[in-house]
Amino acid sequence: MIAAWLVGNDVVDLRAAAAAPRSGRPRFLARVCDEAEQARVGAAAEPATALWTLFAAKEAAYKVVAKLRPQPIFAHRRYRVAADHATIDADGVPLALWVDVDLAAGWVHVVASTRDDRPLAAVEALADHDAQVPAGAPGRGARRLVTALVAARLGLAAGDLAIERPPRPGAWDGAGPPVIVRGGRPLGVDVSLSHDGRLIAGVAALVAASRPDGAGFAPDPG
Ligand SMILES: CC(C)(COP(=O)(O)OP(=O)(O)OC[C@H]1O[C@@H](n2cnc3c(N)ncnc32)[C@H](O)[C@@H]1OP(=O)(O)O)[C@@H](O)C(=O)NCCC(=O)NCCS
Repeated sequence: MIAAWLVGNDVVDLRAAAAAPRSGRPRFLARVCDEAEQARVGAAAEPATALWTLFAAKEAAYKVVAKLRPQPIFAHRRYRVAADHATIDADGVPLALWVDVDLAAGWVHVVASTRDDRPLAAVEALADHDAQVPAGAPGRGARRLVTALVAARLGLAAGDLAIERPPRPGAWDGAGPPVIVRGGRPLGVDVSLSHDGRLIAGVAALVAASRPDGAGFAPDPG
């Protein structure tokens, strides 16, 4: 059993995905999905959406596994999504999943978690004020989204929170998973960021609603 509450998320802009050269290629399907998943994609009313949902589930789960294993191998086929999309066997790590699909807006968003409690999550279009400064806009937008979510839930000022990625030697981009900090110290709430095309998304390991007994999450003191 995994004690820590860890979360991951991934958003796919379905319009951008449909235009990507790999979309619709049998080799891409076979690289991402095992035989059972391929059969489900083939039988789906919207095969492209089914494929990108599985892809996003595996990417979301990988972002959790990367917090548990220092040098994880990411082979999509070693991540197996249950037929009901409620759970994933992430290369031996069992995780809960939540899948949201908005076909009108053109996106799929998947949250993965070490716990069964549904975490706080949000998907938004990149705001004009972020897009005005194009360099790093999606990352900036996703950080703004998650700090706002966490601040509102915990009654903190969003401006006091920041999301950093500490260096991690050996990581593919030299940095580790994102960490939310307050006054430079980790807040003790796990978070995850995602951006794709015109979309930004994020998740925080906080229960989406207060418990009926009034008990809530208390961040690490200080
Ligand atoms: C980590 C990974 C799953 C990110 O997915 P993606 O579709 O590229 O991008 P997303 O927008 O969904 O997610 C990006 C965010 O994931 C987070 N992230 C990056 N590495 C992470 C890790 N190891 N664990 C958890 N979260 C991570 C970051 O916050 C990043 O946003 P930021 O750059 O603004 O800080 C993906 O890059 C991957 O598969 N990496 C490992 C495999 C590899 O070696 N790839 C080589 C690419 S050249």
